[in-house]
Formats: sequence, C-alpha cells, structure tokens
Amino acid sequence: MSKADGSQYGRLAYWDQRYTDDKEPFEWYCNYNSIREHCHEHFRPHGKILNVGCGNSRVSEDMHFDGFKDIVNVDLSGVVIQQMIDKTQSLNGLSWQVMDARYMELDDESFDAVLDKGMIDTLLSGDNSVESANKFCSHVARILKPGGIYMCLSSGIPNERMTMLSNQDYSWEVHYFPVPKPVISEVEPKFNPTEEPTSCYWLYTCKTGGDDEEG
Ligand SMILES: C[S@@+](CC[C@H](N)C(=O)[O-])C[C@H]1O[C@@H](n2cnc3c(N)ncnc32)[C@H](O)[C@@H]1O
Repeated sequence: MSKADGSQYGRLAYWDQRYTDDKEPFEWYCNYNSIREHCHEHFRPHGKILNVGCGNSRVSEDMHFDGFKDIVNVDLSGVVIQQMIDKTQSLNGLSWQVMDARYMELDDESFDAVLDKGMIDTLLSGDNSVESANKFCSHVARILKPGGIYMCLSSGIPNERMTMLSNQDYSWEVHYFPVPKPVISEVEPKFNPTEEPTSCYWLYTCKTGGDDEEG
C-alpha cells in the first residue's frame, strides 16, 4: 500500500462501500500462519489483545482457535464490525467495536498487546498521514501496559517506518523482522529480504519498558 494507491484508504466511505460490496473475508498482506510464530513469542494466551483496523480478516478467529482468548477488535467501518459481530457470535472472548484508531477511547495501560496488520499503512496513505499515524501511535503507547507490545505488520520498509516508530515519546524498543510474501508460483523463490518495497513485508515489534504481570 502506498500513496500512489490514492488517499481513499484513509476514508470511511471507501471502507464502508468495500465491505458492503464484498462480504468475503479478505486478508491483507498475509494470513495468520505467516505471523503465528511471532504471536506465540510475544503474546500471552490470556493477555488482553487489541486488533486495530481488524477488517474482515480471519486473523482474530484463527488466533482464538490457536489459544488467544481475549481479543478486542476495532475498525473505523461500522459495516464490517456488524458483519464480524454476526459472524462470530459463538466465539467467546472476541469482541468488536467501531472505533477510529486516531481517537481511541480506551483506558491507559489496559492492553497487553496491540496487533496492527495493515492499519498504520492505511493511515500513512491517507490525508494528514504523518499526523494521523503519530496520533495512533500515541494512543497505542498510552493503552499498553508496562511490558506490553505493539506488533505491526507493514509493507513499509524499515528505512521509512523506523523514523516514526522509534520516536522516544513512545518509550518502547523497536525491532523488525522480514516476513515472506505469500508464494503464488509453484517454484518457491529463495527468501531474500532487502529493503526493496517488493521483496517482503516487515513485522515491527515495539515493546514498552517494565515487566508485564507475569514477569
Ligand atoms: C489494509 S486494511 C487491513 C484489514 C485487516 N487488518 C487485514 O489484515 O486484513 C485496513 C483496515 O483499517 C480500517 N481503518 C482505516 N482507517 C481507520 C481508522 N482511522 N481507525 C480504525 N480503522 C481504520 C479499514 O476499515 C480497514 O478495515
């Protein structure tokens, strides 16, 4: 996702229309399997996790069946949130709310982890991009518990994203890892991450200082 795609990604009307027209689950970048290992490394099964800009991805459902039992999902689009409420009624521990990531009305230090798959990229491709992304990151830093983690899967290369994420105001330590793009051809190419935008996705982990409750 880039500015060249247009600023429609920052607009509620675009997302509402998209989810009205196509109700099938759509997975941006890659599916849960591609980030599963990182989720198990960084998230506790009974920790409170926020999936921000959840869309109609299957990630939260897959995480639920994979042992993560308390996942709050938020999205700007009321259309997709209602669809996900209807779809997941039987899954205890998944909740869904309409919320703008730039103005999150959530308590300070109330989450162990925040998962963002493609959401900050959306903000960065819209109007007032840097201001929006900074507002969002400030909220994430505020709502994370000490020792909590913000995990962001992005198409943005480290050279672009690190300047924003490593802002000292957020008091977190940032690392990044390449994540292979899903392979479509039958001959699997050798995984060769470079900072070329086409070579891979990037998973950023931002860990706040202090111990989490379980040490
Ligand atoms: C690129 S999609 C990613 C969806 C999903 N996380 C995935 O991986 O498939 C971005 C999502 O962010 C939502 N979104 C856009 N702007 C938002 C905002 N300001 N606050 C919360 N969600 C937003 C869109 O409605 C959309 O569902």
